[in-house]
Amino acid sequence: MCGVVGFVGVRPGVRVIFEGLQRLEYRGYDSAGIATISGGKIHAVKSDGKLLRLEPLLHELPESSFIGMGHTRWATHGAPTTQNAHPHLLGNLALIHNGIIENYRELKQELIADGHVFSSETDSEVVLHLLSRELKTTPEIKGALLKIIPRLRGAYGLGIMWGGEPEALYLVKEGSPAVIGVGDGENYFASDALSLLPLTKSVIFLNDGEIARLTKSSVDICDFSGKLLNRPPSILSWTAASAEKQGYRHYMLKEIHEQPAVLANIIGRLVNPLTGAIDTKQMGIDDLDLAKIRSIVYVACGTAYYSAMISKYSVEQFIGVPVSVELASEFRYRDPYLDPSTLVIAVTQSGETADTLACIKHAVARGCQTFAICNVQHSSIPRATKATLYMEAGPEVGVASTKAFTSMVLCHYLFGLGIGQKKRQIPADVYEKAIQALKQLPSAADRAISTAGLVEDVSAKYYESGNFIFMGRGPSFMVALEGALKLKEISYIHAEGYAGGELKHGPIALVDKYMPIVAIAPLDSHYEKMISNVEEVRAREGLLIGVGDLHDERFKNLCQDYIACPQISDAALQTIVSVISLQFLSYYIAVKRGTDVDQPRNLAKSVTVE
Ligand code: G6P
Repeated sequence: MCGVVGFVGVRPGVRVIFEGLQRLEYRGYDSAGIATISGGKIHAVKSDGKLLRLEPLLHELPESSFIGMGHTRWATHGAPTTQNAHPHLLGNLALIHNGIIENYRELKQELIADGHVFSSETDSEVVLHLLSRELKTTPEIKGALLKIIPRLRGAYGLGIMWGGEPEALYLVKEGSPAVIGVGDGENYFASDALSLLPLTKSVIFLNDGEIARLTKSSVDICDFSGKLLNRPPSILSWTAASAEKQGYRHYMLKEIHEQPAVLANIIGRLVNPLTGAIDTKQMGIDDLDLAKIRSIVYVACGTAYYSAMISKYSVEQFIGVPVSVELASEFRYRDPYLDPSTLVIAVTQSGETADTLACIKHAVARGCQTFAICNVQHSSIPRATKATLYMEAGPEVGVASTKAFTSMVLCHYLFGLGIGQKKRQIPADVYEKAIQALKQLPSAADRAISTAGLVEDVSAKYYESGNFIFMGRGPSFMVALEGALKLKEISYIHAEGYAGGELKHGPIALVDKYMPIVAIAPLDSHYEKMISNVEEVRAREGLLIGVGDLHDERFKNLCQDYIACPQISDAALQTIVSVISLQFLSYYIAVKRGTDVDQPRNLAKSVTVE
C-alpha cells in the first residue's frame, strides 16, 4: 500500500523522487520521507502527514544528490509519525519498505538481545538491522541480502541504499509490487508504473523472489539464489497526460467525466460494430478451456466486489453456469471447495490487491482455470492468471473508484456475452437485445454526466446529514451498495446500502423524517416491487431522493428530490448509468463538507497488505 520510488542518474535527483512520490501518493499518505547519498554519506528528510509537509524540508538534502529513494506510507505497524516514517536509517544504510514483515516480533527480540537499538515501532526496521549486522561479515549488499532473505516472512518491496556502494540502488521483491524504469543515462524504481510514466515507458516488472541492482547505466537482476536473470523491458501503453488532472478540480471528477468515452472505447475495441460479434481472442476467452467450466467464482475486494455481484445478472444468464461472488479476504481463509471445473475470476483495478492475488494462487494450486478482469497492465494478478481481459480504462488516480467500476461491469457483461457466443448458446433475439443495449450505453452515460448540476443542487440540501440509506432491487441493489460505499469513502458520512425488500427486516427502524434515503428505481422488472418499498419509506416520513427515469411522474411524486437518470433496455447495463448519478452525489457532498476527495483519510488505492 505504501509507495516507493528510487532514482539514480547524473542530474540532481531530489525533485525527481519527490515528484515520483506525488504520483504515488494515492497508495498511502500518512507520512513520507526521502534519503539520498552525497559524498558517500546518507542524508534524509522525513515528515508525518502528506507530502505537502515534506516539501519544505527538501532543501536540507544536498543539491548534488544523484541517487536516492523516497517513500509515502500507509501505516500498518506503528503510528503515522515522523519517527516511523521511512526511509529507516542505520549507520550508512537506508531502507524503504512496502508490505509487512510478519515475523518481525521474533526477529526484533533476537536483534535487541544482540544489542541492536530500534528507533521506530515499524516491522520494516528489522530488515535494516538484519542487513546491517550481515554487512559486517558479508561486505556487499547483494551477498548480505541473499543471506537475510530466508529469515523474512511476509510481503516486501524493499528499496536499499548503502554508503559503501554509493552508485547503486537495490530493489527486492516478494509479494509486494516493484517495477524498474529504464531511462537514458538514468534508472528508476517504483511500486507502480504510473509514477514512472513521465520518466520512461520502458519498464521491467520484477517477479517475486528477485533482486535488482540499479546504477545510472545498468540494471542487473538475480533471483534469491543469486542466479543472474535476463529480463528485457516491456513498453507501457499509458501516456503521462492520461494520469494528469487535465483542468478538473479533482481526479475523481475527471474520472467520472471520462466514463462515456472509456465505455465507448471498450465496446469499440471488443464488439464488431457491423456484425455485433465479440472479439473473444482479444478478451482472453480463447485462452480458456470453455468445455471444462461448470461453475464460476468471482473474487474481488471493495468496489470490484460490487461490480462482480452485478455479473450474476448477466454472466449467469448468458453462460448458463452458476456464478458465485466472494470477498477475496474471506474466500482465501475458508478453504473453499474448488476443483478443475471451476473458473476463478479475479476482478481488480490495480491488479495488486493482496487478498485477490492470494485467491488466485490458491485457485491455481487447486488446478482451476483462472482469469483476471483488470485495468493495470503487467500487474501481479494478470501475471498469475491463465488469461486476462484488460479494461483499458486508463489510469485511475482518485482513491474512490469510478471509471474502473463502470468498466468492470461492462467487461463482465461482454465476457458473458463472448462465452455465450462462442458456445453458441445465446438465443439470437437475446443476443441482439444485448447488442442494442450496448449501443445505447455510451450516450446514456453521457446524458447521465450532464445531470451533474442537478445532482450538485440536491447534494447542497443533504450534505450535513449524518446518515444515509441507499436502496435498490435486482442489479440496482448493487448500485445502492456502491453508492453507499462512495459516500462513506469520500464524505465520511455513515451510509448503508440495502436491497429494497430487506428494508422491512430491520433497517426501516432507522427511518424518520431526518433520514435521507436514496432509492434507485429504473424501469426494469423490479420496478413495481421497488415502488412498494419506496411507499413504505414514505409512510414513515423518510426523506426520499429518487434516481429514476426522467418521465416517471409516479416515482418522482413520491420523492422529495429526484435525479432524472437516462434509461437503457438492459437492467445489468443500467447500473452503469445509474451509478454515475451516485458518484456525483457523493462527490458534491464531499466537496461541500471540505474533505480530501482524492485522498480520503485512512484509505489507499492499492491494498497490497492483507
Ligand atoms: C481499495 C480501493 C478501492 C478498491 C479496492 C480493490 O480499497 O480504495 O477503491 O475497490 O481496493 O482494489 P482493486 O485494485 O483490486 O480493484
